[in-house]
Amino acid sequence: MLLKKERGIIMMQNIDRVLLSEEQIQNKVKELAAQLSEEYKGKDPIFVGVLKGVVMFYADFLKNFTEECEMDFMWISSYRGTNSAGMLVRQDLSKNIEGRHVVILEDIFDTGNSLQFTYEHLIAKNPASLKICTLLDKPERRREGVTVKADYTGFVIPNEFVVGYGLDFNEHYRNLPYVGVLKPEAYL
Ligand code: IMP
Ligand code: MG
Repeated sequence: MLLKKERGIIMMQNIDRVLLSEEQIQNKVKELAAQLSEEYKGKDPIFVGVLKGVVMFYADFLKNFTEECEMDFMWISSYRGTNSAGMLVRQDLSKNIEGRHVVILEDIFDTGNSLQFTYEHLIAKNPASLKICTLLDKPERRREGVTVKADYTGFVIPNEFVVGYGLDFNEHYRNLPYVGVLKPEAYL
């Protein structure tokens, strides 16, 4: 078994460069949490995390959100059938959100398929309001037909595959405290 330190070196060898440092991320997350603490004061919002990529952002954000709030999670997956492709809910919310103020927390807004699907799924449950807060946004990748917009965005990033701070390649690298660009040879 590899020691944590050795595993770290192997992971780092596959990182081309650090796009967002741990400090940059932490500062931004605090900024977002301060802004939403102000805007959701007295509204007791429910923060819905879309698993699994959001876990780091979710935990750091919630620790810095200073007002009353609740937590809930959804787990969605994409599938490819014989003649269709789409998204499905693998685990739905545990709470009734009807009449509640809801904020979706996401790691990355890429093609937009996930957020479009999540938004439509939640709006059908009649929340009092529904907004989207994403740590990262890759606007160049947006699929035509995606109509949802992020209400709060941490960083707009270029069209490169990134890992770390919850984001994975083949389920790995989620535990890096920064966001890095993966070397193409690590996935080609
Ligand atoms: P979507 O394309 O906007 O639906 O994003 C779907 C999911 O793909 C995101 O929630 C991430 O888990 C994943 N994803 C998109 N871009 C990246 C990336 O650059 N690195 C790692 N995962 C990504
Ligand atoms: Mg993923």
